[in-house]
Amino acid sequence: IGRNILYFPVCESTQTIASEEARNGAPHGTIVIAEEQTAGRGRLERAWDSSANKGIWMSVIIRPKISPQYAPQFTLVAAVAITKAIEDLSNCTPEIKWPNDLLISGKKVTGILTELQADMDQVHSIIIGIGVNVNQSIKSFDETVQSIATSLKMETGNDFNRAELVAKIAYYIEKYTDMYVENGFAPIKLLWESYSGTIGKRIKATMLTETLEGVAVSITNDGVLQLKLDNGEIKGIYSADIDIM
Ligand code: BTN
Repeated sequence: IGRNILYFPVCESTQTIASEEARNGAPHGTIVIAEEQTAGRGRLERAWDSSANKGIWMSVIIRPKISPQYAPQFTLVAAVAITKAIEDLSNCTPEIKWPNDLLISGKKVTGILTELQADMDQVHSIIIGIGVNVNQSIKSFDETVQSIATSLKMETGNDFNRAELVAKIAYYIEKYTDMYVENGFAPIKLLWESYSGTIGKRIKATMLTETLEGVAVSITNDGVLQLKLDNGEIKGIYSADIDIM
């Protein structure tokens, strides 16, 4: 990971560039990274606040030889890798909020967006978009996210070397991708669950058509959250906004 790096002082979205690069054959491990994004995007078509020179805005192209049904597992690989990288360099251990947010003190420090290019039986590439809030002060954030976002600097009082953190993230993505290939998904899932701030908690899951409350009991191998309702029924949650109660 990181032998091929495309660096931009400013771009619209590293995710869009990485998707194009992947379609044009960019090798496994290519990183697209920018100091600033003018149209950073998040899950569910949301905008992602990507101010200049303060955060890490990067997309990593990986090409694991797997069938598409296993692709969502790499979102969890990425969440564990970034958690480890942050833990190594900051002494803060983020909690993973299902599916993919990393929180410190209940506020979002990292968002992950994964996109898939595949045909019926083979993954061509997975593009892992990673946004880490690193050296922002509260004022660097858009007013609309000030109450829900945080940065490593806000949590620790220290400025961080972003290049060092990028290198750590690349190191751990490679390490856990290799672990996945050698040992399967089980060890990654265990790590994910151990860092999870969602499993074991009472949560509210807001979906397009309904809202469900219950206890998050586990995730499946596909990354589906298993919610135990008060009547004992288990519901699989595929996509939702989660509030931890
Ligand atoms: C989310 O929490 O909704 C995911 C946010 C992902 C943001 C990153 S920043 C680098 C990459 N480029 C984008 O436009 N988005 C991702």
